[in-house]
Amino acid sequence: MAHYDVIVLGAGAAGMMAAIEAGKRGRTVMLVDHATHVGDKIRISGGGRCNFTNINATTDKGRDRFLSENPRFALSALSRYTPENFIALVQRYGIAFHEKTLGQLFCDGPATQINTMLLSELRQANVVLSLGTIIESVSRDVEGFAVELSNASITSDSLIVATGGKSIPKMGATGLGYQLATQFGLRLTETRPALVPLTFETGALEKLKNLSGIAADAIVSHGKTSFEEALLFTHRGLSGPAILQISSYWREGDSISVDLLPHEDAGEAIRALRKATPKVQVQTVLGALLPKKLAQLLGEELDLPGMVGDFSDKKLAEVESILKSWTLKPVGSEGYRTAEVTLGGVDTRDLDAKTLGARNVPGLFFVGEVVDVTGWLGGYNFQWAWASGWAAGQAA
Ligand code: FDA
Repeated sequence: MAHYDVIVLGAGAAGMMAAIEAGKRGRTVMLVDHATHVGDKIRISGGGRCNFTNINATTDKGRDRFLSENPRFALSALSRYTPENFIALVQRYGIAFHEKTLGQLFCDGPATQINTMLLSELRQANVVLSLGTIIESVSRDVEGFAVELSNASITSDSLIVATGGKSIPKMGATGLGYQLATQFGLRLTETRPALVPLTFETGALEKLKNLSGIAADAIVSHGKTSFEEALLFTHRGLSGPAILQISSYWREGDSISVDLLPHEDAGEAIRALRKATPKVQVQTVLGALLPKKLAQLLGEELDLPGMVGDFSDKKLAEVESILKSWTLKPVGSEGYRTAEVTLGGVDTRDLDAKTLGARNVPGLFFVGEVVDVTGWLGGYNFQWAWASGWAAGQAA
């Protein structure tokens, strides 16, 4: 039976980083995955260009951009392995990249460059890769961990669980990490799909469907949290970065509010149009401010016939209100089928923030998305995967 110092389960972003770092310290490492390639999510991420980090992840602002029952938990790993560390690695491999917006760094070329880079690092760290391998069982005794694989039985001193969350089962996501956490006595926080499009009941959807394909810059809010980014109408409901971001905060039964004119004083704009063009139809006035079909839908919602010159100040205030805080009540989300990440996971109370090691099970570590740490859209989740993987790789 082969023995390794470290076995890493899951060859995604976090698992590869953990294996590389443990290997670089001279530990013998086996990295196991049931997929036939490493880093499937890296390959499809960022629209195929991999938004591999966000330069704000460790700034003061960035600290609020990780959701968890203990938002401070992530700070230790994030401050020791920073976006600059990953950028230096990317630069060492000559991978060209650019900042798209809001600190988000994307490859200029295909995302597969990141996987090629990590595979090269794995080779240099002498990590043994076992892909296309089913993990049948994991157990622990005084000697360490025993892992039954479809093609071998292996043992190790340390075990790093990096099997990700539940998002996109079609790409190989399973609940294995959560099962192992429970098996070893760690608590779980509630898990739910996050960074996911929101859906609507049939009546509302019928109306929204006509807008399918329209994008608008908007501020989308839930309580005190708001995001100014693109909003996209789809035939299933609402999507786009602003909606994906707010989906991590939204809960069933809640409404969201949309400011369709984030940079304009809507009341002022309509008053000016009322004065300048009093004989123009209201729909036309709204159409001057918004995409035509959206203007038409809002006009119908407000029952706005006639010319803008005939508008009372009261009616005008109603129009202003729908433009600045259009209230929408989603009924659900598209779920794990399309969610970019899973909110919740292994309870951070049972993990050491510095090493990601289980407090009560020596040698056991959980890294990446399986842990109850979820970043905003925009490179924050990969940065957490690199940083948490790195931290466990120093300790395993
Ligand atoms: P990840 O899910 O990457 O890896 C887990 C690995 O474990 C997989 O290789 C899987 O096959 C393996 N595994 C699971 N169960 C197993 C089992 N039972 N047996 C064996 N192996 C098993 N983030 C970001 O920062 N920037 C971005 O641009 C994007 N873009 C993006 C697009 C899309 C479409 C998605 C779905 C997600 C993103 N993300 C993202 C999120 C990002 O992909 C995610 O946060 C990281 O991949 C998490 O890394 P992990 O290594 O923790 O899990």
